[in-house]
Amino acid sequence: MKPTTISHLRQWKQEQRKFAAITAYDASFSRLFFEQGIRVMLVGDSLGMTVQGHDSTLPVTTSDIVYHTRCVRRGAPLALIFSDMSFMTYATPEQTFSQAAELMRAGANMVKLEGGSWLAPTVKMLTERAVPVCGHLGLTPQSVNIFGGYKIQGRSESDANQLLADALALEEAGAQLLVLECVPVALAKRVTEALSIPVIGIGAGNATDGQILVMHDALGITGDAAPKFARDFLATSGDLRAAVRTYVQDVEQGLFPAEEHSFH
Ligand code: KIV
Repeated sequence: MKPTTISHLRQWKQEQRKFAAITAYDASFSRLFFEQGIRVMLVGDSLGMTVQGHDSTLPVTTSDIVYHTRCVRRGAPLALIFSDMSFMTYATPEQTFSQAAELMRAGANMVKLEGGSWLAPTVKMLTERAVPVCGHLGLTPQSVNIFGGYKIQGRSESDANQLLADALALEEAGAQLLVLECVPVALAKRVTEALSIPVIGIGAGNATDGQILVMHDALGITGDAAPKFARDFLATSGDLRAAVRTYVQDVEQGLFPAEEHSFH
């Protein structure tokens, strides 16, 4: 088997073949996810909450992401792994280059940054220096203190237009992938159709090219605190491997996310 690359994701978009991604933080789970058909994994700074027990992603450092990226890579050598650049580690060009290089050395294929058009020069600089970039728009958890909580984004017409302009600016700057989090279905559809790069949604309805879930939400570990857009696949499958397979199949067949997991 060959490694999954961004070329595969682009081809899947062209073929309108939906794909499932998931967050992973260690080798045991990344191996299990890969064996059950997941080819794309994110070492998200959500680990600040899921692994470290914080109430936000802000305390997470590059060393934390590096450690978990190494673990995930060992478990899934052939997966496409993208890793989050942590809060305030891409504020200046010098800092951005050194922090991104740490993540790539740890085994990431791509780094993910949260933010809109203002990040375009950063995306361009990283791409020119051989660091592939995934953008992240909508509910960007590193901005929780600006948003005043974890809220749906892009609901007004002007916010929706701004988000679309941001997405186009990131693509134009060289971003190769985009995560859209917690936005109305219609906006996610607009963005997915407007971009030629693959768009992965979370809480963004089923019109995006791919879906991603935080593994703790998909496997019922988050329990009652899980967001509305998530589904506990373990609850219905009763078996870890079957739960992951169901997630993959339901995404590929367009059954997940369903209407009850979507925002308007
Ligand atoms: O950190 C993370 O896990 C993420 C996902 C929610 C997309 O950014």
